[in-house]
Amino acid sequence: MRPHDSLGVLFLGDVVGRVGRVALAKTLPILKDRYQADLVIVNCENATHGRGCSHEHYEELLAAGADLLTSGNHFYDIKAVFNENLDWSRLVRPINLGPKAPLEGVRTIRVRGRTVRVINALGAVEMGGFYERPIPAIERALAAGSADYTILDLHAEATGEKICTARYLDGRITLQVGTHTHIQTNDERILPKGTGYITDLGFCGLDEGCLGAEAESAIMRTAFQLPVAFNYVEHGAGVVEGIFAVLGLDNRCLSIEKVRARAVA
Ligand SMILES: [Fe+2]
Repeated sequence: MRPHDSLGVLFLGDVVGRVGRVALAKTLPILKDRYQADLVIVNCENATHGRGCSHEHYEELLAAGADLLTSGNHFYDIKAVFNENLDWSRLVRPINLGPKAPLEGVRTIRVRGRTVRVINALGAVEMGGFYERPIPAIERALAAGSADYTILDLHAEATGEKICTARYLDGRITLQVGTHTHIQTNDERILPKGTGYITDLGFCGLDEGCLGAEAESAIMRTAFQLPVAFNYVEHGAGVVEGIFAVLGLDNRCLSIEKVRARAVA
């Protein structure tokens, strides 16, 4: 039995294209009910044809039941993030994009009377781009104020960077999840000082493809380095992957388990 004063968090991996969006919309009401989730966070990094999240799809994912959305290396692919007339208040972009970046890299919301701070950060290892390293930016966010719970989405390629960052932050944040690889890892656990952890949540999208794209295009691009664009098909069997974590008092994670569901889009 879950303690009555605990907080249940469903965190789902990178939504990829229409198949991911539809699979999420079909499964999220069932998952919320099954786990009695108090808070749903979804990485929307690839929601718009694999590259970023348009404002239309931002609203679609919120309507599907997400409370907050996190982002990643495709954040700037959608130029509407610069449009100050649009409400992006439930999107958390990577915190380490530099001081001129639009929107916020940390957002705090109230859930059942408690404050939950959500940080999104880009990894520095094998990610390309010119980002600040994640730990100094995360340290500034932690020093800027307190919250009952802190959740970090480290959007990163390297497994070593993810676990080393989590061990460094252990006990100071409540939960760290990894995103970006689209491969769900089998290492969910609670670290020695109480931080819940998984190296990567996996993704929400086409089940029988590769990384959410149609397999042939992904094989040519990724395994053979040919200049082929990922082909994001519009229909097919979808998978929804992530974790459900129970957060207790004293900023500790009480339990964490993998989530995997299917829906046809
Ligand atoms: Fe990514």
